[in-house]
Amino acid sequence: MKKIILVASLFSFICLFVIAQTKKPIKKQDDSPAASIERGRVIYQRECLSCHQADGGGVPHMNPPLAGSSDVVGIDKKKIIGIVLNGMTDRIPLDDEYYSNNMASHSYLTNQQIADVLTFARNSFGNKADVVTLAEVAAVRGGKKK
Ligand code: HEC
Repeated sequence: MKKIILVASLFSFICLFVIAQTKKPIKKQDDSPAASIERGRVIYQRECLSCHQADGGGVPHMNPPLAGSSDVVGIDKKKIIGIVLNGMTDRIPLDDEYYSNNMASHSYLTNQQIADVLTFARNSFGNKADVVTLAEVAAVRGGKKK
């Protein structure tokens, strides 16, 4: 009797294990540019829109536009990654214009979130540029994993 119970429970454990494995495939992240842009849109709306505005146009003399910004679509992505990670309070001209507001550090975002939001900014508001990758953000953050 004991043996039957043991075999039966072992069998049902194996069945449950197999069902659990087949029913819950581990969701792999979609690495396509389109998927990154869509994730970035959500992050932009939550983290950046209040200052840089829904159309990426910014607020004159306060918050710079991301639309048409030469840095945002620039080949050197380290600059914009650094601005999101460290914030920006310098009074230096951006496309010949000064902005009075300060941008806080967004280093609490993960490397993937920063890659996504910048990929979104580089491909929205009329901008067109290649993606920002996880590795590019990780390189600027400098080893500290997030
Ligand atoms: C509190 C308002 C505020 C928020 C929120 C904010 N920014 Fe900024 N951002 C600014 C200001 C102000 C500057 C310019 C600062 C300066 O000139 O010193 C700036 C600069 C930038 C620049 C540089 C633009 C250029 O032309 O070089 C980028 C890129 C940028 N922000 C992206 C983002 C992203 C992405 C987010 C969201 C993750 C974000 N910002 C959130 C206010 C903000």
